[in-house]
Amino acid sequence: MALRNIRIDDDPILRKVSRPVEKLDQRTQTLIDDMFDTMYDAEGVGLAAPQVGVLKQVVVIDTGEEDEKMVLINPEIIREEGEQRGQEGCLSFPGKAGFVTRPNVVTVRALDREGNVFEKTGEGLLARAFCHEIDHLKGQVYIDKVEEWVKRE
Ligand code: NI
Repeated sequence: MALRNIRIDDDPILRKVSRPVEKLDQRTQTLIDDMFDTMYDAEGVGLAAPQVGVLKQVVVIDTGEEDEKMVLINPEIIREEGEQRGQEGCLSFPGKAGFVTRPNVVTVRALDREGNVFEKTGEGLLARAFCHEIDHLKGQVYIDKVEEWVKRE
């Protein structure tokens, strides 16, 4: 188990665009393992590689639902449907949460950790996670999309 340092707040790496992964070498596999460890340790449901300082198109997600633990390499959104407004947070912006409108159903196409292409359709929280994490790979962060901040007592 290896935890990586989560980049937070105004760390400039969070605003940079990630590069596609060209080969799934041991370095990438170790990155994926470390990202899962780091995400679970921080009790998040998703983590993108730039959040641990690596500008590669790698995302890990685990919403806690069956079949919703996954690795997405070079992911792209190929279909969106509907709309949902809900609370969102991010491990890179600790202590904050805000309401963001996202599509309600999202289909992604990506490579898994063995390099096989797959497509997955997510609804609700999983659709939100797809959008949020893929935004990270483009250097976009949810705080710029917040419509209303959740007030913390
Ligand atoms: Ni995030």
